[in-house]
Amino acid sequence: MDRLDSFVYLDCVIKEVLRFSPPGDVVLRTLTVDDRLPKSGAQLFKGDQIVIPIHTLARDSQHWSISPDLFDPERFPGKDKYHHPYAFIPFGGGHRQCIGQDLGRFELKVIIARLIQHVTFGEGGPVVNAGDHLTRLTIMPKYVGVTIEFN
Ligand code: HEM
Repeated sequence: MDRLDSFVYLDCVIKEVLRFSPPGDVVLRTLTVDDRLPKSGAQLFKGDQIVIPIHTLARDSQHWSISPDLFDPERFPGKDKYHHPYAFIPFGGGHRQCIGQDLGRFELKVIIARLIQHVTFGEGGPVVNAGDHLTRLTIMPKYVGVTIEFN
């Protein structure tokens, strides 16, 4: 556990993966009272369903010092240390935020730490990694390919 705790760069990589390609695209809330958006003044009504766009917030340049379209794990301890708290909500927020987030993060960390001890991943090349994503219940890459070398 202590060694896992010491892998602080891996924490940044996992955070950046969850920011860059959050598995959940949006969270939904239903208003229990009438309300008004503070900046625009837009009127909202009790019963309205609000879509909170996790992916869009994470890619909105007004909330990030380093371009949000760059994959850069060092943004978290660096220039984006004090990013807007709601610009990065891969597990939602408030009372109904993901109840399994600590387990989710822990599993990711253990699995990645184990894999990189025994396996070297390489870039699969431009044909198989042509970019783009599919949005279903979760977001997933449209194309993804890596080479795997067992050490
Ligand atoms: C990387 C992994 C995961 C991601 C990105 C994720 C993401 C999310 C998101 C975005 C929500 C909606 C939160 C909101 O409405 O504010 C959610 C809810 C939830 N998640 Fe996760 N989750 C993950 C792993 C897990 C795991 C491992 C568990 C259980 C072991 C879990 C159980 C739940 C439950 C029960 C809810 C509903 C909470 C509620 O409505 O009160 N999740 N998750």
